[in-house]
Amino acid sequence: MKDHPKIVSVVGARPQFVKLAPLAAALKGKFRHIIVHTGQHYDDNMSGLFFRQLEIPAPDINLKIGGGSHGRMTGRMLTALEKVLQQEQPALVLVYGDTNSTLAGALAAAKLGLKVGHIEAGMRSFVADMPEEINRRLSDHISSLLFCPTSTAVANCRREGLGRKVVLSGDLMYELLHRLRPVIRDNQAWMKKWRLESGQYFLMTAHRAANVDDPDNLRRLLEIMERLPMTTILPLHPRTAARLRSSRLMTRMKKIDHLKLCEPLGYLDMLTAAYHARAVLTDSGGLQKEAVFLRTPVLTLREETEWPETLKRGNRLVGLDAGRTMRTLNHLPATKATSFTVRGKRPSEIIVSALTKEIARG
Ligand code: UD1
Repeated sequence: MKDHPKIVSVVGARPQFVKLAPLAAALKGKFRHIIVHTGQHYDDNMSGLFFRQLEIPAPDINLKIGGGSHGRMTGRMLTALEKVLQQEQPALVLVYGDTNSTLAGALAAAKLGLKVGHIEAGMRSFVADMPEEINRRLSDHISSLLFCPTSTAVANCRREGLGRKVVLSGDLMYELLHRLRPVIRDNQAWMKKWRLESGQYFLMTAHRAANVDDPDNLRRLLEIMERLPMTTILPLHPRTAARLRSSRLMTRMKKIDHLKLCEPLGYLDMLTAAYHARAVLTDSGGLQKEAVFLRTPVLTLREETEWPETLKRGNRLVGLDAGRTMRTLNHLPATKATSFTVRGKRPSEIIVSALTKEIARG
């Protein structure tokens, strides 16, 4: 084991744990894999629960840097990660997705002259001031290997002159979902707990800064919630809960009879909720494509998506427009099956093989 090359994974937020799960399993026995948790997400149901349910090895290091402004959070992570990477001296650092933890990990590693692999590279919303867009663009440009989940992502990288570093890997989230689909489908405990019938409710989530940090947009979200024609489960993200309280809109939301509010759900419960829902309404990038993969129609509460492929498979952009949302709910889009392999290979297999080659090149 000691002779295997060392890889450090930097993770911190929910969507990263989900990508780490299948990859950590595939790296086992081939690399010494050190998991560093920045602490960006720290509540048990947004972090620890994911590690347990998805059987991800516990983080080797937890930096416990959660909360605060973007600059302060990213800066503190950068300082702490530099120290960790200097001590560990890995052959390569892996970063995932588009959060502040991604950017801090990529920047700390690149500044130390370490190789960086970016999982879920090449995604673009083309909204330049969106925090995630800033994180993904910068991370892509300082990484040595860009693992793109889709051919659109490959094209985006090529357009920015990054073609040489690209690997079309497919999507680790789909790989995990494919493996767990039967468990997700048969998770009766969750359906019973909420006394829900398959196909008789909607699932809604919202946490994007552009949607919840602006009180006018928060009001538009509330109008959508009020007009929904069916029981709706809404796991409330801490960011959204905080904004609802500070804009004094929480009481108005709690008055909506058909809305069932709950704490953020763990991976399996969230996916069961999506699997059996009549439709999903969300501004999350991850849930958008998970719903499509599970063949549940999805209404995206944004004007753009980083996943244009999903628009042909049951995803519709409705923005924060209550009228458009209600019309789409009346005529739900047809769904279509999505494959998770690339030329017959699993994403984790493709990534491990590219990492092995890159590290051997020195
Ligand atoms: C972050 C990511 C986003 C991703 C999302 C998944 C960035 C810029 N954004 O957004 O891309 O889709 O995670 O959920 O990195 N909080 C808690 N408990 C927690 C975690 C957070 O109370 O376990 C609080 C924080 O203190 C903060 C707020 O929730 O006040 C928002 O958390 P933050 O990590 O800033 O961003 P997210 O909105 O979760």
